[in-house]
Amino acid sequence: MNLATLRKLIFEKNLPAMLRLDGQARHLYRSAFATSAGASGVLALLARGPSRADAIASHMGLDAGQLPAVEAWLECGVKAGELARRDGRYRLRGRLSRMLADGGNATLGALFEEVSRYHYDAILQAPQRLRSAQRYTLADQDGVLIARASRILEPLVEEAVDWAFAALPASNASVLEVGCGAGHYLGYMLSRRPGLRLVALDFQQEVADAARQVLAMSGWSGADVAVEHADILAFDTTERFDLVTLHNNIYYFGGERRAALLRKVRSLLKPRGRLLLTTSCRGGSAAIAALHLWWKLSEVTDGLPERGAMRQMLREHGFDAVEDKRVLPGESYFAFLAGSA
Ligand SMILES: C[S@@+](CC[C@H](N)C(=O)[O-])C[C@H]1O[C@@H](n2cnc3c(N)ncnc32)[C@H](O)[C@@H]1O
Repeated sequence: MNLATLRKLIFEKNLPAMLRLDGQARHLYRSAFATSAGASGVLALLARGPSRADAIASHMGLDAGQLPAVEAWLECGVKAGELARRDGRYRLRGRLSRMLADGGNATLGALFEEVSRYHYDAILQAPQRLRSAQRYTLADQDGVLIARASRILEPLVEEAVDWAFAALPASNASVLEVGCGAGHYLGYMLSRRPGLRLVALDFQQEVADAARQVLAMSGWSGADVAVEHADILAFDTTERFDLVTLHNNIYYFGGERRAALLRKVRSLLKPRGRLLLTTSCRGGSAAIAALHLWWKLSEVTDGLPERGAMRQMLREHGFDAVEDKRVLPGESYFAFLAGSA
């Protein structure tokens, strides 16, 4: 490069800023590569040892004709610093990929994938989606991935469950879990109160199936538990419950449906029964702001509730003695416990 070109790059194209931007872009490349390599099982494969491109392609279920494109994708991983290549074999190199490849970090991996796939997309697409009125639908989300990522909240939800269980009748207690996701709280509740009558439902078939599997694998299938594939708003039963739980799903219901949900839940409670609702509320971290944005851009449009508005809404729908607590200090994540008169 001659001096005149260098001078143009420095003074006309702001080379120092360009180099700083390059560092930012590298973060994006790293994140995109690590996310897709994690989701396609390539990180787990490389965690077992170095692999050639053709073995990686076959592990991904791709045929030889797609090998050049797979090599181009792996090259992005190498250039971003997430992979290394030696003698035609790829191995894990970057800290991010090594962390996500660790089986013990599966929940963090799902969370990172949720951030990369949905939060990042919502922020990137918001202006264009708003202009074109193109709304996200539930079909845009992988329900099983969301259920896996939601496991990061387990300690918080479990604390909230203990709070609600303190007021459960000593015997013959019954719980309805609405939107049970992968069903991890079902086992927790059974372990806290063996003999509990438990009905769980989720309106995504594959998610309800996953919940049944989790229960069977953890040895609870003989307990008094039913997992149903159902929409709570259409759920038909004569049974009444001491406690209904709604964890991390109030924002799946907007407008009149949110009101209908609360009326429905209340109608399913025994006298003096209670509702336990856990949710992120507006006003928290960047992750909560992005979650709120995704739901604002969705067909549901309401987004996350505000803490005060949530309390008010519970009262308006026949719940009295509404209590709430911030379950994670410093974060806008709340548990609401509401009694029905
Ligand atoms: C973010 S996930 C949370 C899952 C679980 N409660 C947890 O905290 O890990 C929300 C779940 O609510 C379920 N859901 C949403 N709307 C529902 C409805 N109308 N009836 C039943 N389940 C519903 C979704 O299918 C999804 O599995």
